[in-house]
Amino acid sequence: TRKLILDLDTGIDDALAIAYAIGSEQAGDVELIGITGTYGNVSVATGVRNALAVTALFGRDDIPVYPGIDRPRTAAEPLPYEPGPGARRIHGDNGIGDMAIPDSPRAAETTPAVDFIIDAAETYGRDLLIVPTGAMTTIAEVCRREPGISRLVGSITFMGGALTVPGNVTPGAEANIAQDPEAADYLVRSGVETTMIGLDVTHQAVLRRDEILPWRQAGTAAGDFLAGMTDFYIDSYAHTQPEHAGCCLHDPLAVAAVLDPTLIGTLGVNLRVDLDGPWRGRTIGDRAGGRLVDPHKTTQVAVRVDVLRFKQRFLDRVTALAAV
Ligand code: BDR
Ligand code: CA
Repeated sequence: TRKLILDLDTGIDDALAIAYAIGSEQAGDVELIGITGTYGNVSVATGVRNALAVTALFGRDDIPVYPGIDRPRTAAEPLPYEPGPGARRIHGDNGIGDMAIPDSPRAAETTPAVDFIIDAAETYGRDLLIVPTGAMTTIAEVCRREPGISRLVGSITFMGGALTVPGNVTPGAEANIAQDPEAADYLVRSGVETTMIGLDVTHQAVLRRDEILPWRQAGTAAGDFLAGMTDFYIDSYAHTQPEHAGCCLHDPLAVAAVLDPTLIGTLGVNLRVDLDGPWRGRTIGDRAGGRLVDPHKTTQVAVRVDVLRFKQRFLDRVTALAAV
């Protein structure tokens, strides 16, 4: 079976991505071999705590969680990143919609995330799928240490960026790229081949409140948690991004796409990230005078998504998980 590593800033849609991954494991699609913690919606410490608590609630406290790098390399402050009011409004003060769930009985691993990912790449090769869905600091460091990583593994499919639509933190920048534009730029320039699941497609993958009724009706701790957390997310979207009639399934779509690439259609580009000025954090194709600088396209940017098929699979996988 294929192996999956999720690199998460466990926030609400990251927790839904965990649910999708575990549901996919139950369906025999993949094995979730570990979660690594990055930052964005939450700090690394909170994200690791949430990943442990959520996997335990889903009956899977065997899934190891590894702490990743806790701030950008370029950070002026020698302190771990902490989320600001914007992230707290969307994901709650605790990152998971202020739902109170017990801590996991298990602690995080002591091995750093970068070492875990490189070891897994060497062990599993093309069977390994890596899905980063928060600040790109840890995955960029993996590429710095192991520049051949994309030829070793099956896929690096990240959630982040926006090529054809505006950003969600500034007119140019999407949140995961905005957290550490230098890391994202290193990732896409390093020759490492990636697939980008950006706002171009995640803004089409909107979940409505009526669609999650089966989670609540399951009458389980997992179902109550999933429904309560998602209600919080849908409420926060109604305030902050009312143009969507629900909430966007950003991170679950990245997991779905890496497991079944037929769900998306992509455009190959040499991606770059703007690092200066008002467009800092924008993802953009690299063209010089209308001609591509490098004929080798390193990023496949998702521009189409089969929304109905994705959402059906998402609801099937997560509802099955809520039932147990
Ligand atoms: C991305 O930013 C985070 O808030 C979400 O978890 C998602 O990964 C959307 O821009
Ligand atoms: Ca995320």
